[in-house]
Amino acid sequence: MAERVRSVKGMRDLLPPETAIWAAVEDVARRIFASYGYGEVRTPILEDTELFVRGVGEATDIVGKEMYTFTDRKGRSLTLRPESTAPVARAFVQHGLADQGLPVKLYYVGPQFRYERPQRGRYRQFNQIGAELIGDPGPASDAELLLMLVRFLEALDYTGLTVLLNTVGDDESRARYREALVAFLEPHREVLGEDSRRRLETNPLRILDTKSPAERELLADAPRLEGHLTAQSRTHFEAVGQALEVCGVRFRVEPRLVRGLDYYSRTVFEIVAEGLGAQDAIVGGGRYDGLIGDLGGADVPAIGFAIGEDRLLAALPESFRRAHAPVAPVHLVAAGDVEPSQLLELAERLRAEGLDLVTELGGRSVKAALKRADKSGSRWVLLAGEDELAAGELSLRDLDAGEQVRLGPDAAIAKIKGQS
Ligand code: HAM
Repeated sequence: MAERVRSVKGMRDLLPPETAIWAAVEDVARRIFASYGYGEVRTPILEDTELFVRGVGEATDIVGKEMYTFTDRKGRSLTLRPESTAPVARAFVQHGLADQGLPVKLYYVGPQFRYERPQRGRYRQFNQIGAELIGDPGPASDAELLLMLVRFLEALDYTGLTVLLNTVGDDESRARYREALVAFLEPHREVLGEDSRRRLETNPLRILDTKSPAERELLADAPRLEGHLTAQSRTHFEAVGQALEVCGVRFRVEPRLVRGLDYYSRTVFEIVAEGLGAQDAIVGGGRYDGLIGDLGGADVPAIGFAIGEDRLLAALPESFRRAHAPVAPVHLVAAGDVEPSQLLELAERLRAEGLDLVTELGGRSVKAALKRADKSGSRWVLLAGEDELAAGELSLRDLDAGEQVRLGPDAAIAKIKGQS
């Protein structure tokens, strides 16, 4: 036998019936985001590499070691998108969406690609559901975006969610803090691992979310960003917290939360769910007031989030799964010597009446067909034999009750619809 070709490492197939649950989750996202005035944006999966180098930042893990980058036949450097905020910001600038009036509210659903070490909840192709609110600098917009996110997760029956909230300050706050942090860490270089030593030059704030116990211990005494915030940044952050309290959103201020992408300023947040690993955030996001300007657009502030759909599904409450489990279609079985075309024609008529139907076109035993129907989770089987068809009738078998009755097609449909 020929050797089998397998899917690429870290990339997986999603199959039915699980795909029905993914679609149900995405339907809820679309409904809720629309109710907040968001429209869907679909950007290409491939972008110029430069977009991510400039947008996400050269010193980030994503750009440094996780991108799927290749040159095309004309020698252009292209990258499979590792995230969608930079592409959405590019599209916003490219199409002059600011002219429609601000704010512009966009959401997206789609695959992202990062060359990470695959493990539970971490894939090389993964899906994100994200939203970007572009053009409103005020703290109330931060709160409204978070409210929308929480409402979405509640609609999936999630409970026990914690919003982890922090501010990374504006440019001035970060410059001040960077200096203080470097001054504190420099004398302890020997405690820092290779990554953190490099970050000391490139992006010292990222050292704050280190996993190394020795570094964590050292950082316990480090200066806090909080003490270096400009008055404006502080006021903004406090106002976000107040608005969330008024609206009843539970959150916890997490001073160490800094996020792994360079474009963030001021509000940043993550949401962790019970049942997933502690480092596995299902959502990450924040403000990125400088990104659109950095990509050649006007000075337009923005905030957004992206939900890791794979992780969202892995931790999805059972109640939502049950409520959205696909209903197995009715089986229409040819009993005896029935012309397949006759059965097809009958099936089309029944589908036109709103019945979801799979056909068993004959040639196999009725017993085997009943078994298959049962295995598929279907409750109903319609048996069409020569007798029945001649009388314009069908035999309807209820696999749950183990009963069978003979009746006309309309009565069969009514019974199925009334009881399934
Ligand atoms: P991020 O934190 O890099 O942010 O990713 C957001 C979410 O995507 C994570 O919380 C996680 O659930 C999921 N995710 C990331 N990498 C993987 C992976 N390898 N496998 C499975 N899931 C993964 C962003 O991407 C920003 N664009 C979010 C944003 C939008 N900020 C502002 N607007």
